[in-house]
Amino acid sequence: MKSITSYTSDYLLIEGGKPLRGAVKISGSKNATLPILMATILTREECQIGNVPQLLDVRTTLELLNHLGARVVSDSSWVCVETAPLRSHTAPDHMVRRMRASVLVMGPLLARLGRALVSMPGGCSIGVRSIDQHLKVFEKAGASISIRHGYLDLNIRKIKPVEHTFEVITVTGTENALMLLSACPKRSVLRNIALEPEIMDLVEVLGKMGAQIDIDGRTAVIRGSEELAGFKHSVIPDRIEAGTFMVASYVSGGDVLLENLRVDHLGSVIEKLREAGAEVEILDLSTLRVRGKTTIKPLSISTSEYPGFPTDMQAQFMVLCSLADGVSEITENIFENRFQHVGELQRMGADIHVRGRTAIVRGVKRLEGAEVYSTDLRASASLVIAGLVADGQTIVRDIYHLDRGYERLEEKLRSLGASVERCPSREY
Ligand code: EPZ
Repeated sequence: MKSITSYTSDYLLIEGGKPLRGAVKISGSKNATLPILMATILTREECQIGNVPQLLDVRTTLELLNHLGARVVSDSSWVCVETAPLRSHTAPDHMVRRMRASVLVMGPLLARLGRALVSMPGGCSIGVRSIDQHLKVFEKAGASISIRHGYLDLNIRKIKPVEHTFEVITVTGTENALMLLSACPKRSVLRNIALEPEIMDLVEVLGKMGAQIDIDGRTAVIRGSEELAGFKHSVIPDRIEAGTFMVASYVSGGDVLLENLRVDHLGSVIEKLREAGAEVEILDLSTLRVRGKTTIKPLSISTSEYPGFPTDMQAQFMVLCSLADGVSEITENIFENRFQHVGELQRMGADIHVRGRTAIVRGVKRLEGAEVYSTDLRASASLVIAGLVADGQTIVRDIYHLDRGYERLEEKLRSLGASVERCPSREY
């Protein structure tokens, strides 16, 4: 499904060859913020959320909450949401198309209003991204689901406790199920759940609201409440933003101190970066330093669910592998079409061949600046990293993809010595 956005889009103008040096503060996690904002629908009381990143997807979510009738007040990185005046159960097409994560409204609306009318989120540029696993849990919990004029119409009279095993490990599927079942006072069991740190952050919030959720391995036992309370919570740092800066520091031959992160959320990324030859010095639980002028060693990467190597870091590491001294293999196991950045990196001189789910990357001495197009959020980040290290000038277009998930990226990069300009572009 093509995301609907304005067709006039800024672009980034990058002059390559400047090593990143200095310190950068990591922002709050987009993928923790979105479900936690949706969880405010579960209560009539006021909710205060801190460390909220200023991102397009967060703005879209706040607009959706507003559309549903919630009162939203946001200043700098705090957001206050009150959904007592909630009056609508409809997530309209133009909002869902802008942000697939709008599907996270289903569980909370079913719990609060007994109904959710959500425009069907088709696929997107990285894959079909079905939501069958979400719907199976809703049906088991007693929801009736029909499709009307492109909208999913979900209705539920009383939430039934479930014993359910996910056939596929799904992040937002787990989050939707946890939010719905947090409103059911009886005991439910979910098996084969996703364990991303963003889900654990949501579990902490649901606990503050009055749900009891015990997690053992990939099994969650939930005892919810029919009267969930408001909460105050500061979201966890964004591990993917942190990973992106870690890769950028190393491939640029720089020396960057990353602050306000969670080292314990970055295990597989730290290991891979060290395997490639980077010096990763851990100063404390929220601070690490990445540097290295060494020759980049080739890698074998296979993405998997947390705590495995994150699919959201695959594109960024592909840039690193493009400059390694040897041949690397990158296998994408989560999404079926997450190699959109390959064609754009090839325009910059990368030597990459894709066979099915695996990309074979032959390291080259250098990349060349070029005009490239973003296709999805993390692909656009990989193009920016490539531009930072390429010879000459790179133009990265369609950076609304970037704005969805990176807060003030060009400012942060400039503060580290990069030559990056955001330029308004003509209608085209
Ligand atoms: C979440 O997407 C993240 N988004 C994605 O981050 C991330 O890439 C992805 O998890 C994997 O880690 C948010 O948290 C908002 P999934 P989600 O459901 O939940 C299949 C970013 O860059 N599947 O875990 O949509 C699905 O097709 C974004 O910030 C089903 O088959 O991903 C995919 O192949 C991009 N049926 C796999 O499971 C379902 O019902 C994992 O999908 C659900 C999923």
